[in-house]
Amino acid sequence: MASVKEMDTYAKLWMKEAGTRLRASFKTKLNIEMKTNPNDLVTNMDKGIEKFFCEKIGEAFPEHRIFGEEGMGNDIKDLKGTVWIIDPIDGTLNFIHQQRNFAISLGVYVDGIGKIGMVYDVFSDELYHAIKGQGAFLNDQRLPSLEEASVSKAIISINASWVTENRRIDPSLLAPLVRDARGTRSYGSAALELAFVAAGRIDAYITMRLMPWDFAGGVLLVEEVGGEVSNIKGDKLDILKGDSLFVSKPGLHKEVFDKYLLGNSSR
Ligand code: IPD
Ligand code: CA
Ligand code: CA
Repeated sequence: MASVKEMDTYAKLWMKEAGTRLRASFKTKLNIEMKTNPNDLVTNMDKGIEKFFCEKIGEAFPEHRIFGEEGMGNDIKDLKGTVWIIDPIDGTLNFIHQQRNFAISLGVYVDGIGKIGMVYDVFSDELYHAIKGQGAFLNDQRLPSLEEASVSKAIISINASWVTENRRIDPSLLAPLVRDARGTRSYGSAALELAFVAAGRIDAYITMRLMPWDFAGGVLLVEEVGGEVSNIKGDKLDILKGDSLFVSKPGLHKEVFDKYLLGNSSR
């Protein structure tokens, strides 16, 4: 069986190579297609990078399975064995419109347990990576454990959708949180927002609907620095189907649930 160290070494190399390809693509004309609606886009680079990972993983670890957003891996119905969960570009709209604020996200799960988490901020050349039980790192520098935080001193990443009329949460629940926090941000890449929480650049990230590849890598980063991770009901995440997500520095989780989310009817 492949060791975590072996997978980690390969994964880092592939992340860097994929990043180089993505940066090179800034000078080329993208082929952009619509998926489910005009705001749900995919480019030739999303597909090309997922294909690249599928080929590399297939060569190095032929017995492993791949769960990728663009569907070039396996048809995953369970997390038995080793599964690589990949989002080739998280933040495709940013990639298309801004050529920044997007990331490659990768998580390696063994029998459903996250072993390796990586998020590569391609524009900034910042590679965040975590190995379960061994800590989280930014460009190989160990990230310190997160310190306690409170809402009044917190910068919280939240998309404005969740405080306006939407299908997933009563906007009146989170509007007071936005009012009480020191500030709010929205970066448009769940993977990056998770990495920013792990690095202490923001204090929490809250969102109502993500797919497994959006958070499979990033949640491991947050866990490895002592952050708190759950869905919006306070339960363990569903890595196979996707979930809502709330990650934060220690202390913030309880304060947000006690003061703001207890009225959430879905809890
Ligand atoms: C999206 C980004 C975005 C989040 C969406 C995701 P994509 O991923 O992570 O921040 O709000 O829910 O779908 O489509 O750019 O890979
Ligand atoms: Ca994504
Ligand atoms: Ca994507």
